[in-house]
Amino acid sequence: MPKDQKKLKGLLLAGGKGTRLRPFTYTGAKQLVALANRPILFHAIDQLTACGITDLGIVVGETKEEVKAAVGDGSQFGASVTYIEQSTPLGIAHGVKIAEDFIGDDPFVLFLGDNILKEGIGRYVEQFRTGCHNSLVLLCPVDEPQNFGVAQLDGDKLVRVIEKPKDPPSNMAVIGIYFFDAHVFDAIRRVKPSARGELEITDTIQRLVDDGLDVRAEVISGRWIDTGKHDDLLEANHLILEDLEPQLSGRHDEASTIQGRVVLQEGAEVVNSHIQGPVIIGERTRIVNSFIGPFTSIYHDCLVADTEISGSVVLEHTRIEKVGHRIEHSLIGRNVEIRGHQRRPHGYELILGDYSKLHTP
Ligand code: TTP
Repeated sequence: MPKDQKKLKGLLLAGGKGTRLRPFTYTGAKQLVALANRPILFHAIDQLTACGITDLGIVVGETKEEVKAAVGDGSQFGASVTYIEQSTPLGIAHGVKIAEDFIGDDPFVLFLGDNILKEGIGRYVEQFRTGCHNSLVLLCPVDEPQNFGVAQLDGDKLVRVIEKPKDPPSNMAVIGIYFFDAHVFDAIRRVKPSARGELEITDTIQRLVDDGLDVRAEVISGRWIDTGKHDDLLEANHLILEDLEPQLSGRHDEASTIQGRVVLQEGAEVVNSHIQGPVIIGERTRIVNSFIGPFTSIYHDCLVADTEISGSVVLEHTRIEKVGHRIEHSLIGRNVEIRGHQRRPHGYELILGDYSKLHTP
């Protein structure tokens, strides 16, 4: 049956080790860190369902219970979700390999659950569905191609993918959203683990090319972020907040000013504070005697009192009170407590877990 008459399935990868995002990944799935108050993985699911891709497989690892609790059966997204358990994170291609029963012989989109693509994937879904190629790889120009899987092209045909090349053939990085038909499973069976012991997706794509299959590449037109590191998370939060639609479902008192594009989610409360959007304040979060500056997301059930904070992400159930200096460009986890002193402190009093980062003037 031709591809365009088949329904594309979606395969999301939400396992992995997440070493670069410690300490967040000690206590939770990195794909569930909320950007603009919505888990990263949900943004990916939204992009698939927006194109009518609703039959979804999600590869889960150590954090499977947390991911399953958040996503459920997929009905909240108008999708149906099948979970595929990966007992050890043996690589992205390994995640695909174990999804073979779920995919069957349908064409599918592989979407790494920590990637954010601003423009959505509609255009590429159409291109793959109606084209006769076996795989479509999306590319994004980057400044330091030596840190990425890099594509060598002949027109729109992919001829080579090289992982972290010392001498990159182009500045085109392969991003974490790929389209495959069922040939990919045969290719993975013949891929050997790399030096880091993983089945690599780049080796798999190279195998498809070497098999003489039709692998196309398309350069994306919008922004792409792989939220693997802390700075990337803040940048992705910024990117999503650029399109924030203002909505004031929560309350603010007369002593407060709300400027720019601001979302106060249900049950949020702003008292004697200044909010300068784009800013999103989560459900049941209270902002008291504070300044919340542009490009800040504060998730649900938090308290920010007597504090200035800007360009930051604050996750759920966190309390920040009486901090003497403005908090900027910060990523603050769940259930964190930051408390300053009313009187001038003689020094810092700190309880910081392994791998915490505290940058002070
Ligand atoms: P990566 O960011 O490449 O790997 P990682 O999550 O192990 O992180 P780090 O390098 O910081 O240790 O993974 C990309 C996505 O694919 C991410 O959403 C996790 C997922 N993944 C799996 O589900 N299974 C795997 O075996 C691997 C390697 C990744």
